[in-house]
Amino acid sequence: MPISYNEQLRVFRLDTPRTTYLMGLVGSENFLGHIYYGPTVPDDNMGYLLRLEERPFTPDANAGERASFYDCFPFEYPAWGGGNFRQPCLRLRTAQGGPNCELFYHSHRIFSGKPGLEGLPAAYGDNCATLEITLRDPVLDVKIRLLYTVFEDVDAICRSARIENAGGEVINLDAALSACLELDNEEFDLITLHGSWAREQNMDRRPLASGKQGAFSLRGISSHQFHPFLALCEHTATQERGLVYGMNLVYSGNFLAQAEVDQFNKVRAVLGIHPDGFSWKLEPGQSFQTPETVLVCSDAGLGGMSRAYHDFFREHLIRGQKKHRPSLLNSWEACYFDFDHDKLLQLGREAARYGIELLVVDDGWFGKRDDETTSLGDWQVNEKKLPGGLKRLGEELAEMGVKLGIWMEPEMISPDSDLYRAHPDYAMTISGRTPTQARSQLVLDLTRKEVRNCIYDQISAVLRSAPIRYLKWDMNRPLIDVYSSALPPDRQGEAAHRYVLGLYELQGRLVDDFPDLLLENCCSGGGRFDAGMLYYSPQIWTSDNAEAVDRLVIQEGTSLIYPLSAMEAHVAACPSHVNGRITPFEVRGRVSLPGCFGYELDIDKLSPQEQTLIPEQLEEYRQYGPVFREGDCYRLASYRENGTYDAIMAVSKDKKTAVVSFVQVRSRAYRRSLRLKLAGLEETALYRRKDTDEVRSGAGWMRGGLLMEAVQSDYLTALTVLERV
Ligand code: GLA
Repeated sequence: MPISYNEQLRVFRLDTPRTTYLMGLVGSENFLGHIYYGPTVPDDNMGYLLRLEERPFTPDANAGERASFYDCFPFEYPAWGGGNFRQPCLRLRTAQGGPNCELFYHSHRIFSGKPGLEGLPAAYGDNCATLEITLRDPVLDVKIRLLYTVFEDVDAICRSARIENAGGEVINLDAALSACLELDNEEFDLITLHGSWAREQNMDRRPLASGKQGAFSLRGISSHQFHPFLALCEHTATQERGLVYGMNLVYSGNFLAQAEVDQFNKVRAVLGIHPDGFSWKLEPGQSFQTPETVLVCSDAGLGGMSRAYHDFFREHLIRGQKKHRPSLLNSWEACYFDFDHDKLLQLGREAARYGIELLVVDDGWFGKRDDETTSLGDWQVNEKKLPGGLKRLGEELAEMGVKLGIWMEPEMISPDSDLYRAHPDYAMTISGRTPTQARSQLVLDLTRKEVRNCIYDQISAVLRSAPIRYLKWDMNRPLIDVYSSALPPDRQGEAAHRYVLGLYELQGRLVDDFPDLLLENCCSGGGRFDAGMLYYSPQIWTSDNAEAVDRLVIQEGTSLIYPLSAMEAHVAACPSHVNGRITPFEVRGRVSLPGCFGYELDIDKLSPQEQTLIPEQLEEYRQYGPVFREGDCYRLASYRENGTYDAIMAVSKDKKTAVVSFVQVRSRAYRRSLRLKLAGLEETALYRRKDTDEVRSGAGWMRGGLLMEAVQSDYLTALTVLERV
């Protein structure tokens, strides 16, 4: 069992393949404190890691200084009260308004496997073990069940908390975060991801400063602006060296990801649902389940952390549809709303000519939708545009060997829709106030069962009406008027989270009822590219910005956490509809290759020379896409950092094939050739470079590197393949 409890030391020990996590019980009252998380330590005598003799870690021997104990003790799950002035995970109020809470160890159990989390996406696996520690507040009889799961095959630990009101009075939760990690500040840098629409997932790295810092969302979605993730790394950590801790939340709504440096230079990192605007009422006997946090620790730099997350998400979180990612042609940038049956068939013929597997009919096939202002909520096909409906289209495409995919935005309602005219109350609005429109639309109140059922019935009817193999589930605005007419006043603080739970229920039903459907999530691009959505959809539209140069940066940030198999990446029209940049077709193809590959343009409008590149691009995707998506990834160079070129490498899990995709964005005056040092190969095995037949040992390629000639030109790209001899 990778989990044990040392009764003598009163220490819990969790082991992943390369890391150890220790926590212990302190004092006669049994506080649960964090002891160690990092590279594996021997299981001899962990006493040297404990500081149990050091004041004020001895609360009972030092009762007069209880507050100073609270002010610095590394709690596993800190509550507000007792003198804990740092960020708590748990903050509650009794019906009388009493805010204090003190948590002490109550019991624990260790078992193999991992339980699901009620209503929430959660990791799964057979090769894992779980520790459940129950903490208890003796005054209120509130119990906190902390779950820790470790897996045999990956250096990740899943954590979550369940808060149970076992007492006799009503409790209000004002904060219920998922996890806390307390560490000594070893000159850490903090890494977060930030951005905007069309500029998602930029990496931000800065030295940790005193006080609170981090990332958050209060937009009802995980957002384009920040990501529910933070990493702490040694200041000297690089791509492949140094200690890195990652915390990622399996959740798609408001979040707080925060690191706090206190007066003793200790770090408290917390992750969970954002306390602002949140409250949850617990009647006696009721409980609240927090989302799951995934912790990763690696001493192999940022790349080590990324590879652990990639393995974790591929093996233990993404449900179904794991491997095949069809190439596709999407109608959005090809024709926006301006299409009919014949136009789509023409796109279908283009797809068929090149062997593109799927045609995605994006926005505009339903209701009377010819622009953004109408028809969301009316999921009936527009027979004027598509006589014979999706069925006829799907069948005609099938005859050409092309599958049909469609776009929907199920969480939304247009004020100009039959659904709104029939049920204006289905929209989330605040009584007496003009509802805030964004993209001319309102948000459906997914906290209500009847609203969810109404939408689900429509979605499933569409999917049953035609041979539809793929669904792009979009969501194009933040939640603003967060108010549910179905909730009493004292439960309105639950609305934002209940919305997310409603969304999860809908997508859960969908993937259960349509197991062969490939579901892709989207939120104006990457506004909800998070682990919660990945549980339901194995791929997500990474950004509305598919322009190759900007995409390099967006994909680098995304791949810091998520496997390339999750990133939908398209060759889009040129000049870019988003930033106006002109980039060669070949470069656009290379940048898309590592993700889930598609085209988002009208192929007939490409030059003959560009068209001749399509078969090559599709062949590269067929041959090497699986290595990128399923193998181990190494970032060899970052355009974001050097401003000149980018290189990403993937090695298949059996280490037989390695692929390097290089893109020189700009040339640089007066430079020599570049040496791209490869990574991840077997040191002593021999590898042949496919284009030149040069054979070297893995060590030779890794130390000597690939020599990239100094060519004075912008926009160069090369794909290098090594096969083990
Ligand atoms: C969002 C998506 C786009 C496209 C449009 C359609 O912006 O991100 O890919 O589907 O909606 O309205």
